[in-house]
Amino acid sequence: MSLFITFEGGEGCGKTTQAKALYGRLSRLAIPAELTHEPGGTALGSQLRRLLKTRRQDEISPEAELFLFAACRIQLVSGVIRPSLQKGKVVICDRFADSTTVYQGYGRGIGSTTIKAVNEFATRGTKPDLTVLLDIPVGKGLGRKQAKMKDRFEAEEIAFHDRVRDGYLKLAADEPERWLVIDATLPKARIGEIIWDRVNQLLNKHHLSLRH
Ligand code: TMP
Repeated sequence: MSLFITFEGGEGCGKTTQAKALYGRLSRLAIPAELTHEPGGTALGSQLRRLLKTRRQDEISPEAELFLFAACRIQLVSGVIRPSLQKGKVVICDRFADSTTVYQGYGRGIGSTTIKAVNEFATRGTKPDLTVLLDIPVGKGLGRKQAKMKDRFEAEEIAFHDRVRDGYLKLAADEPERWLVIDATLPKARIGEIIWDRVNQLLNKHHLSLRH
């Protein structure tokens, strides 16, 4: 009864908090779960995360950035996500391939054919059963970050973040059965309940399908 759940959203949307809360809830119910994140989640991924998030003098080209995220993902999918799914766990991943589609695709302007091919290669076809989008107006999300502490992505211009938000909403509209879109300005506890309702439904469905 494996389940793959991803969390997505723009800067400051609170997805890390919600991913952790969901993991905590599953653990308290003794449901085997794995919580991981992108970029990161492996030794290589953590090193690449630092490289990708730290502001720098020289520019990383959009294409190089795309492949660095893909390298993180390949390592995470083969080393953590697939083995955990094979063990029947609920895998929760804070960001996944949809982040590449919106940040490197919509944000940086790399064409969708390239993005699709790279995502397909990096994920080896591993696709989330559920993707939670915490949707937040750009100004509000960025306002939750301290100006001095902004990383390479948070420091991008507003238009970049607007493209990212629009991209997410388009993806969600195109595939409504996979995406759960939640207003990220709602109280944290309310968001947690909305997510839990959906996850609970999925867990029941998977149990039922096992019995038949
Ligand atoms: P975060 O996980 O702390 O939000 O930081 C990750 C940053 O990296 C975030 O700004 C989004 C960005 N990102 C991409 O641009 N492409 C990707 O494929 C992933 C996973 C993240």
